[in-house]
Amino acid sequence: MKARTHMDQLENTTRTHAPCRSSENGRDLHIGTPFRHHIFLIGFMGTGKTTIAQRISTMFAMEMVEMDETIAQRAGMSISDIFETYGESRFRELETRLVMELQGKNNAVISCGGGTPLRENNVKAMKKSGTIVLLTASPETIHERVKDSHDRPILESNKSVSFIAELMEQRREKYESAADFIIETDGKSEREICEELAKKLTEGEL
Ligand code: S3P
Repeated sequence: MKARTHMDQLENTTRTHAPCRSSENGRDLHIGTPFRHHIFLIGFMGTGKTTIAQRISTMFAMEMVEMDETIAQRAGMSISDIFETYGESRFRELETRLVMELQGKNNAVISCGGGTPLRENNVKAMKKSGTIVLLTASPETIHERVKDSHDRPILESNKSVSFIAELMEQRREKYESAADFIIETDGKSEREICEELAKKLTEGEL
């Protein structure tokens, strides 16, 4: 689960994770940083963006930015509290502001919020500054992954496969048109997903 409620203030900074060169199981590949641009991971809630971003940042010795965590750190409150106190539209503004700010940085792996690619301006900026990778999973898989968590206000009182399927369908076109490529995650281990992703990324780069 994301650490979104840390109260240490990081006002006016981007919340990042420095690349770490050794993985938790010591078996990830470390192949340096062949990228000059960002890698944006997009996708529905629960598709594993944060976990995969962490592993990819280790693999390629890249900085990682977890967008929701950055926004929560700066606001000094959780994403759920931002939604509750200021409303979703304020959260979307903070999200867009962060996307724009990231244009000034180089080659980070960025775990986006599930709603980040829904705004055209966000997608335009992301396309300009990096490669956009869509992670997908079935509504059943998503439901299984999110059913016991309480940090996603949009799903909080809607934790059913049918709600997830419907929202996913509404968002599908925007997700797919934003993506440079798509990785299906159902039935794959984190390691398999990262290897597939790394292969596609390096094929595109070299
Ligand atoms: C949202 C997804 C969340 C978070 C917010 C809204 C969405 O991020 O940004 O709760 O609209 O899909 P994750 O996809 O990282 O859970």
